[in-house]
Amino acid sequence: RTISDLGNLRGKTVLVRSDLNVPLDSSGAITDDGRVRASVPTIRSLSQAGARVVVCAHLGRPKGAPEEKYSLRPVADRLSELLDFPVLFATDTVGESANGTVDRLNDGDVALLENLRFNPGETSKDDAERGAFADQLSHLADVFVSDGFGVVHRKQASVYDIAERLPQAAGGLVETEVAVLERLTRPRRPYAVALGGAKVSDKLGVIENLLKQADMLLIGGGMVFTFLAAQGYEVGTSLLEADQVARVRGYLVEAENRGVDIVLPVDIVAATAFSADAEHEVVPAGAIPADRMGLDIGPESAQLFARKIRSAKTVFWNGPMGAFEMAPYADGTREVAQALVDATAAGATTVVGGGDSAAAVRQLGFADDAFTHISTGGGASLEFLEGKTLPGLSVLDD
Ligand code: 3PG
Repeated sequence: RTISDLGNLRGKTVLVRSDLNVPLDSSGAITDDGRVRASVPTIRSLSQAGARVVVCAHLGRPKGAPEEKYSLRPVADRLSELLDFPVLFATDTVGESANGTVDRLNDGDVALLENLRFNPGETSKDDAERGAFADQLSHLADVFVSDGFGVVHRKQASVYDIAERLPQAAGGLVETEVAVLERLTRPRRPYAVALGGAKVSDKLGVIENLLKQADMLLIGGGMVFTFLAAQGYEVGTSLLEADQVARVRGYLVEAENRGVDIVLPVDIVAATAFSADAEHEVVPAGAIPADRMGLDIGPESAQLFARKIRSAKTVFWNGPMGAFEMAPYADGTREVAQALVDATAAGATTVVGGGDSAAAVRQLGFADDAFTHISTGGGASLEFLEGKTLPGLSVLDD
């Protein structure tokens, strides 16, 4: 069901679950507003349809009680700027402020509720506690629109339970994300996947599934050192998940049996410390000195990865290739992003998944429209590609 199936929304109060979980710096300023921008079209179209729009979202992982640093107020301000009209802000989710704010809404107005996770019912593992919170939320609105693709893998009150309590539909962002990620399950070949990020343990499920689908798997980021260790290399003081080495060795064997090309870096930028000022040099991937840590793939590897990506018709990329937030270790990520841009221009389908990779491409100055799609989902897009059932999507089908 999409929004058009909900009929005439003029005068109706619509509760929209968006994913506005954006990174903030220590002064509370938003450092990447991609998720807010991605949420605007659905909110704007509901407002233009004359609905009274009540947006709800989470920020960070507060423990079920208010914490100033996790307030959504800065996000309400950004949303107002992007919509170009004032967004009302309720300082709670189901209390006096929320009820009063919703009562004051006129047709076309938009309000944002405070962080849902200030209420313990939102993330509770207890069905009854979550259900009670969803009941309270449902009293605020006539219909529910699920548009927070980044949270559809969470069985939480505002994602899952609420959809059982109100007439509901998927918003435009959820529709687009699902359509694009579905295309990746029937890829035009060759299909290349570049995976990075810190921990291989976060990516085990997706690697297992991608070994059955992809033609090439390019591995970089902090997780690569567990792969290098699985090949018998010393990795110095680099990030290493020793308990995953055996499993990763199994993936290398399986990839070979299936004819999947696992591409590992041939050189590494190795530094004396996790710092932009640390002494660093490019070393062969098999010869990282004992007192050094790898913080980026080296230039030869970046070229190798770029060649593979440019040869593909479908590319999915999740996770930075190095510690890109520090300039000396950003080149690998930049080269991979550039290769995706070139592949897009040559007609390939390219998808960037995940908060860190999305933030990386924007921080490095690439435009969103240089890629086929930048997903707003980190964990959600990975779980989708793992083939898992996502509670926030399956509940919409029920
Ligand atoms: C994300 O950042 O991936 C989503 O907003 C979900 O956040 P969570 O991992 O804290 O549930």
